[in-house]
Amino acid sequence: MELRMDYNNVLDSRIGTEGLAQADFDALKPAAERASKMMADNRPSMKWRELPHNQAEIVADIKAYVTEMKGDIDAFVVLGIGGSALGPMAVQQALNHPFYNELPREKRNGFPKLYVVDNVDPERLVYLFQTVDPVRCLFNVISKSGSTSETMSQFMIIKEMLEKRLGKEAARKRIVCTTDKEKGNLIKIVREEGYKYYIVPDGVGGRFSQLCPVGLLPAAFCGIDIEGLLEGAAQMDERCKSPCIYENPAYMFAALHMMALGKGKNITVVMPYADSLKYISDWFAQLWGESLGKHFDLEGNVVNVGQTPVKALGVTDQHSQVQLYAEGPFDKIIVLVGVDEYRETITIPKLYEDMPSLGFLGGVTHNELIKNEQLATEYALTKANRMNMTLTLPRVTPQTLGQLLYFFEVATAYAGYLLNIDPFDQPGVEEGKNATYALFGRPGYEAKKAEMDAAPPKDGKYIM
Ligand code: PA5
Repeated sequence: MELRMDYNNVLDSRIGTEGLAQADFDALKPAAERASKMMADNRPSMKWRELPHNQAEIVADIKAYVTEMKGDIDAFVVLGIGGSALGPMAVQQALNHPFYNELPREKRNGFPKLYVVDNVDPERLVYLFQTVDPVRCLFNVISKSGSTSETMSQFMIIKEMLEKRLGKEAARKRIVCTTDKEKGNLIKIVREEGYKYYIVPDGVGGRFSQLCPVGLLPAAFCGIDIEGLLEGAAQMDERCKSPCIYENPAYMFAALHMMALGKGKNITVVMPYADSLKYISDWFAQLWGESLGKHFDLEGNVVNVGQTPVKALGVTDQHSQVQLYAEGPFDKIIVLVGVDEYRETITIPKLYEDMPSLGFLGGVTHNELIKNEQLATEYALTKANRMNMTLTLPRVTPQTLGQLLYFFEVATAYAGYLLNIDPFDQPGVEEGKNATYALFGRPGYEAKKAEMDAAPPKDGKYIM
């Protein structure tokens, strides 16, 4: 079962001058050749590319740990943000029952519930503790840097709470950490406290970490076949090895998007036609946005490039965003993500046959309805000369999801190199982090505080 990509509708043969012409492919050639070489040369440092192949021992450890712990806890709670939260949410939503946490335990095959506490909205933790008893949870503190304020603050609250209720020894068993093997505070804390821990390997940044213990541990704790995920990723790695753009789907996806960007398509919409893939759009938005939105290129020139990812859901957004996509500015490429075979079937009964607007639905399945609505949207977008393309999963399984995740990661790396930027850093996030530290008077951030204090005050006349 293989992911398919159909890019007919981004070509000028289908959508006229809004589409890509042979001249666009020819013009991209020098950048494409450079990007392809960088992908090959830099592969040894892109450790996330090896994750499908080198984790047999880690997988065995994770599975043994799940077996040891799962009967002891009601919920597995992820404390993490950004790459540490979006991947676990996306995989859980894709592969498990949509109302997983609400199912009785036996219908979850004895696995605990899953919660992901990414934000520091004060209501969130309080409401979580009203929902599950913290002493019946296993908390997974995920932070590669080991210093992310949001995650570490949640950890501190929970550590104190657990120790007060359980004592230090029992509390220790309720915390498992995923972090860098030597850098940052979390690994120091792990060693001091004796917590169980997993490593985020070198060369695996947050948004590229779903296939390492960052994503595998939460997935395994809710019964997901993590070996299947890795198997699918390995299959996609095989398909993405070719330096020939016509044989490498991730390279082609990246190239199409970068050519689209060159034609003013500053936005890419990812619109799955499956509720199960809804959060894949959120995960992709971080991957594409944080990796490609950059001030400098690799030579230090100011470029301010990037393509804004937008999340949508078919068919829901046909009744919300599609009007804009079809008739608004020509600034988007729309990626429809379809599924050949849904995991369930439901048939509409033959009622109201005398009413033409309802009668045609009788005997039709929702499977046919959603697929035809996807085809109809594709037709309407193409008729309106809007760039659109389709990714199709034969069925949502651990293997095909692994393919999709790995495909998007490789495509993002290609896109970064096509733009001649570093897709693996995120310097733009640092300014906000430093300003937060300054506002709290953290030692070492006095100059930042002074800089903030010196900024011109807001003018009251513009506040209504
Ligand atoms: O992709 C990234 O690098 C970020 O989104 C990080 O995942 C996020 O900032 C959390 O960082 P950390 O894992 O260091 O806590």
